[in-house]
Amino acid sequence: MKEKKYIPALRFRWLTPFYDTLVNITMPEKKIKMELIRQADIATGHTVLDFGCGTATLSIMTKQMHPNARVTGIDVDRKILNRALNKIKEQKSDIFLLDYTGEKLPFKSGSFDRVISSLVFHHLDTESKKIALTEICRVLSNNGQLHIADFGRSESRVQRILFNIIRGFDGFKPTDANAKGLLPELISNAGFKNVEIKKRFKTMFGEVQIISTTKN
Ligand SMILES: C[S@@+](CC[C@H](N)C(=O)[O-])C[C@H]1O[C@@H](n2cnc3c(N)ncnc32)[C@H](O)[C@@H]1O
Repeated sequence: MKEKKYIPALRFRWLTPFYDTLVNITMPEKKIKMELIRQADIATGHTVLDFGCGTATLSIMTKQMHPNARVTGIDVDRKILNRALNKIKEQKSDIFLLDYTGEKLPFKSGSFDRVISSLVFHHLDTESKKIALTEICRVLSNNGQLHIADFGRSESRVQRILFNIIRGFDGFKPTDANAKGLLPELISNAGFKNVEIKKRFKTMFGEVQIISTTKN
């Protein structure tokens, strides 16, 4: 079987157990995730996919804020999904988790009303970003929405310099399109309309942007 190639949550597998703590202390994680969920405008009965859910913090917050939504989390890393599963059990939350190969999403076309994703796209090289966005577009229903929180090109020189810390850590190739501010264009080219940067958060690792868009 083809081996999955991906960058784990904190680049090195041995750092995975520290992911939640590190993200929580190094950036306004809750604030960013709350805003992402708010922008997603989730309604009762909506089907929501958390793409690259990692330890499922965003999935759990989504379910807490929208108990009547059906939330699914997907990731390529089984090890991190085991951590997510434990958190979901502790919280007694009702979230469906699954792993996949990083290529075709294992869902029928039009399965989701919303796709949300936080801090995932800077882990994907430009070709993988295109594949992921095309697949996300396919699994969204007509007029379904995609909401992404990830690093983007800041107008602040200091924030652009700080992003080099993440670039050095996660790799210059996967973070290239983020650093150049090309994510909105890639989203648009994958079949989305009204791509808009809704919010910008300054962090100690560069600017995290919330990008919202609707399936064309
Ligand atoms: C920095 S972590 C973010 C996790 C979580 N979304 C959060 O905000 O805490 C990036 C996650 O993306 C996942 N990932 C990497 N490549 C992926 C792909 N092609 N499809 C889905 N998830 C992927 C990693 O396994 C990891 O869990």
